[in-house]
Amino acid sequence: MAENLMDKIVSLSKRRGFIFQSSEIYGGLANTWDYGPYGVELKNNVKRSWWKSVVYERDDIFGMDAAILMHPKVWEASGHVENFFDLKSDCKSCKKRFKAADLKDKKKCPECGGELTESRPFNLMFKTHAGPVEDTTSVVYLRPETAQGMFVNFQNILDTKHPKLPFGIAQIGKAFRNEITPGNFTFRTREFEQMEIEYFVRPDEADKKLEEWIDYRFNWYSNLGIKKDNLRKRQHEKEELAHYAKACTDIEYKFPFVTRGAADDGTWSELEGIANRTDFDLKQHSKYSGRELQFFDDAAKERFYPYIIEPSGGVDRTTLAFLVDAYHEEKVKDDIRVVLRFHKDLAPIKVAVLPLLRNRPEIVGLAKRTAQELKKNFITVYDDTGAIGKLYRRQDEVGTLFCVTVDVQSLEDNQVTVRDRDTMQQDRIGIDKLKEYLSAKLNS
Ligand code: GAP
Repeated sequence: MAENLMDKIVSLSKRRGFIFQSSEIYGGLANTWDYGPYGVELKNNVKRSWWKSVVYERDDIFGMDAAILMHPKVWEASGHVENFFDLKSDCKSCKKRFKAADLKDKKKCPECGGELTESRPFNLMFKTHAGPVEDTTSVVYLRPETAQGMFVNFQNILDTKHPKLPFGIAQIGKAFRNEITPGNFTFRTREFEQMEIEYFVRPDEADKKLEEWIDYRFNWYSNLGIKKDNLRKRQHEKEELAHYAKACTDIEYKFPFVTRGAADDGTWSELEGIANRTDFDLKQHSKYSGRELQFFDDAAKERFYPYIIEPSGGVDRTTLAFLVDAYHEEKVKDDIRVVLRFHKDLAPIKVAVLPLLRNRPEIVGLAKRTAQELKKNFITVYDDTGAIGKLYRRQDEVGTLFCVTVDVQSLEDNQVTVRDRDTMQQDRIGIDKLKEYLSAKLNS
């Protein structure tokens, strides 16, 4: 049933232009995905909602956008050169590669029964060279997390914004990991986007701030419509913690598939981890860079390393969760209506304008003019490529919030029918009142 649901979502994503297989005309690049016209809108809306919630609606967080390529010493200081690896084992027959942890002491290849190699460490960072000479001095990495870009700019933020503690830095950007077992559509890929916050606090306030951030971030997901039964918090066991973390709680989503490393039945999987990273990062970067990255508290006249609370989420994974959670099928008369019930802030398209009769130029003209006017204020599309029932279904399938239909009567009374995606209720509204009507609905 759940697998069936994922098949439907992957198929709808391709058919309607949310997510395509990357380089498909060449047979595709495994586990790599491209976002189409609706997908890019959905993903941008996820990022915009996050940024609004953590930057615009707060006084204590500054946004930034660091480069993907960083000085190679960053990754020594962060511990990624030493610690960021998985143990992997290769099958000598079919050449498939497995994470040792997934094999659970199995001695034979789970796919073909072939002999496995001894497990060996495999660093997950993508390595490349900057400049024309490929030697050890030119090695650079594609960042495996956005976090380090914020740590190394700690002093720049202090010098330009002069914040008091607590304060934070927020960033959205690409990250790359040479995952051994990517999969489950966009859930685990080698190229993905993160949305991360590094929140600097007094060490004695870290435990309290961690709890506040867990709630703040949990509420963001539920306020954007993720169903209660599909969302939970899970505290990490000591042995699960990353090398830098003192405590961590994941916000998990109940996906319709089993993921590696997931808790319980395997379907509850991490959307975001909220960790107490202590003063590990600022101390490490002070040591490796020779720059003292401490905070000076003017009132108390003391200098110290702040602790860092880090809410770290994945854009693609979160977008997938919103897509899965929004998927609904319902029986309408003898038909199955597929509708993506996205939250209004996330819906890729807010309004579709549809002429009831596409062979009547006056109706088409009025519908096009109405759409053009609405485009100034709302993400609006015009569609006249089918009968009205088909056009409604098409818009439901991509989660469009309102369909505005222009009919014969509209030519006389300058009114249109506005259909609500979720209730399918229809209101008759004057064209001159449409902006007001839709604004009230969208901003409520
Ligand atoms: N700075 C901390 C950090 O990077 P993480 O738990 O490794 O922590 C944070 O990653 C989030 O990034 C995850 O919760 C997940 O949403 C996303 N993420 C990590 N690896 C991913 C991958 N291979 N594909 C898609 N998303 C990934």
